[in-house]
Amino acid sequence: MCKVITITNQKGGTGKTTTSLFLAYGLAERGKHVLVIDLDQQADTTFSLSHGKDYSTSGKTSYELLTKQATAQECTVQINLLIDLIPASSQLAALDIVLIKNDLYRADLLKEELAPIKSNYDFILIDTPPALSVVVTNALTVSDRVLIPVQADLFSIKGLADLSKTLQKVPNPNLDVIGILITRFNPRTIYSKAVTTELNKAAGAMNTRVFHTRIKEAVAIKEALHQFKSLDEYDKRSNAAKNVNQFIDEFLEVNDNDNKEK
Ligand SMILES: Nc1ncnc2c1ncn2[C@@H]1O[C@H](COP(=O)(O)OP(=O)(O)O)[C@@H](O)[C@H]1O
Ligand SMILES: [Mg+2]
Repeated sequence: MCKVITITNQKGGTGKTTTSLFLAYGLAERGKHVLVIDLDQQADTTFSLSHGKDYSTSGKTSYELLTKQATAQECTVQINLLIDLIPASSQLAALDIVLIKNDLYRADLLKEELAPIKSNYDFILIDTPPALSVVVTNALTVSDRVLIPVQADLFSIKGLADLSKTLQKVPNPNLDVIGILITRFNPRTIYSKAVTTELNKAAGAMNTRVFHTRIKEAVAIKEALHQFKSLDEYDKRSNAAKNVNQFIDEFLEVNDNDNKEK
C-alpha cells in the first residue's frame, strides 16, 4: 500500500527540502520504491535529485500536472532504480492565477492526477513551498500523512498553530500528522523550557508526536546534498549519516505502527 507523505511548514528554511531528500534516499536504500514530487517553485529538491537540471522549459513538471497539461506518467523522470521524480518549475509561482483563470482552482487536482500511478510506489513524498497556498492544499488533500520539520525556536513553533488550522480545513478526513521533526538542532544550545512546552502543546493539538530523533545541524548534511549524494554515499560512518539513518528507522517504525492502528 502506497503512503503519500507531504513534508510541510509554511515557514522557510525549516529543513523541508533537506528532509524530503534524505528521506527519499534513506527509504530507497531500504528497498522502498519512492516518488518525489517537488511543488516548490524554487525547485531545490529537483536540482539536487537531478544533479542540477532545470526542467522549467521541459513542459513536463508539477506545474503542467496541476494545470492538466500533462499526465503524472509523462511528468515522471527516473533518478535511479528506486527513486522517481516529478520536477518543479519556476512557473509554479503563477499557479494560483492560472488555476483561477482556467476555472481549475481546486484542492483535488493532484489527487486526481496521481490516482493512476499511486500503486507503483511504496511512498510518495511531496516537498512544498513555504506557504499555505493552493499547491499545499493539493498536497494535503492527496496525502495520508504530514511530516512537519521545525527548528527548535519559539518563532518556528508559533507558526504551528496556523498550520494546524490549515490541516483542519483540508478536505481530507484521512489525513494524519505522522510527527514533528526537530531539524538543524544544535546540542550545545540550551533550549528553554518554553520551547519544549510549546512544541509538545503543538504536537498535542495536532494529535501527533515529536520524533525522538532530532536532526542535528551538520555541514555533512548540507554538503552531501549539494554533491547530489545521500548521506550514506557521502560518508556512511559520519555522525550525520548515523543521525539521519536513526531518523529513517524511527520514521518507518512509526509509519508501520500507525498502519496497524488504522
Ligand atoms: N541538519 C542540517 N544541517 C546543516 N544544514 C542544514 C540542515 N538542514 C537544513 N540545512 C540547510 O538549511 C537551509 C534550509 O534548509 P531547507 O531544507 O532548504 O529548508 P526549507 O526547504 O524548509 O526551506 C539549506 O541551506 C540547507 O542546506
Ligand atoms: Mg525547500
